[in-house]
Amino acid sequence: MKVIESNVLLSRLRTSEFGRSFLILDECASTNETAAQMANEGASHGFTVIAKKQTKGRGRHGGIWFSPEGGIWMSIVLRPPQSFEPLHGIPLISALGVVRAINAILGFRTSVRWPNDVFFKNRKLAGTLVEAKLTGNTLDYAVLGLGVNANFPSSMFPDTAGNATTLSDIIGHRIENAELATQILFEVEQLYGHARSGRFSEILGLVRQNDSSRGKRVEIELEKEKVFGSFDDYLTLTVVQIVDDRGFRREIETSSAVSVAYHDV
Ligand code: BTN
Repeated sequence: MKVIESNVLLSRLRTSEFGRSFLILDECASTNETAAQMANEGASHGFTVIAKKQTKGRGRHGGIWFSPEGGIWMSIVLRPPQSFEPLHGIPLISALGVVRAINAILGFRTSVRWPNDVFFKNRKLAGTLVEAKLTGNTLDYAVLGLGVNANFPSSMFPDTAGNATTLSDIIGHRIENAELATQILFEVEQLYGHARSGRFSEILGLVRQNDSSRGKRVEIELEKEKVFGSFDDYLTLTVVQIVDDRGFRREIETSSAVSVAYHDV
């Protein structure tokens, strides 16, 4: 039996594009990879791939994303306009969508952690990954991947998963993945729509209300240097401000961060 049945998904969907056409798989290497293949073959904006498990789930910085049965592993094909300003803010916007969906369905608060994570207390619960396909400077499409540690015990995580947790461990029982997955599609579609229509300050306000990055000690690896300091604030959806250890304010573009590590989690 699949974790998410297609008829259940369809009956619950409240989106206009995200998840309206989809593929549900028992297993794949990475839903981002499958979604990219589908996009190469012409899949439309919103096409969604969901897998029961991934054998080579992709994380940020080329890491492996642990993806056993029981999690929500899905990827959405995005076909934004060429001059889509907040492309590098999509992971953050999507993390906010996951936070809002968890709150709506399960009734507890989680938080956004710049640039792409969802945390519960000091433990990672979900991550997002956008991979763009460019031809020269032209954006062909992007794939938005969402991974939520839903129904499996935290004891299954390999050491490489760091300080991660799962929804079923937090609430003490299984959750209905289809219900949460469709709510995530709804929330992320709404926020993406706001971003498309330029409602950046509204989204930024929601990010700040649901954020747990600010005030945290952070280490950001850029191409030519490492910045150590305290996460001060979001300046835009794609630029954050860090106060470095010498007391200087540094504006960091999300796209320039090779890796990000928080130290007081
Ligand atoms: C991160 O490192 O925090 C990002 C993790 C993103 C994982 C999701 S799971 C579904 C989609 N397919 C992948 O291979 N990765 C993303």
